[in-house]
Amino acid sequence: MVCLGNICRSPLAEGIMKRKVSENGLDWVVDSAGTGSWHVGKLPDSRSIAVAQTHDLDITDQRARQFQASDLDTYDAIFAMDASNYRDIISLANHASQKDKVEMIMNIPRPGMNTGVPDPYWGDDGFENVYQMLDEACEAVIKKFSTP
Ligand code: 4NP
Repeated sequence: MVCLGNICRSPLAEGIMKRKVSENGLDWVVDSAGTGSWHVGKLPDSRSIAVAQTHDLDITDQRARQFQASDLDTYDAIFAMDASNYRDIISLANHASQKDKVEMIMNIPRPGMNTGVPDPYWGDDGFENVYQMLDEACEAVIKKFSTP
């Protein structure tokens, strides 16, 4: 799960995804990262922590890290929150096999629409909307990737 800072959107995506993975009895490894390095080592944004808490989800064990080119080999699927994150990740890829793993996350529930998860950092009212979009997206990821 990749956004810009790894403090607002992708920590919520990681938390939501981990809970669904557990509920579905899957053994997937879920992680998140930011394309930027400004917030490395930091807790998620307090507003993301708060909105997660309203959904009985604790994301305070997470610390921000920067996305690494090696993540393109480590992980089977890499989900960008928006088109800018997508471009930044793709720019680190050397092979088509790496590029093929990268997708904008809302294209899983809404194929071909290229809908971005809006960056809520500069306002205060977008966090519940981000949560709802990511809940929809993660549910679709479970369905798409867990079917035998
Ligand atoms: P995120 O939000 O990419 O969802 O974690 C942001 C966090 C920090 C900044 C921008 C977006 N920033 O400019 O510091």
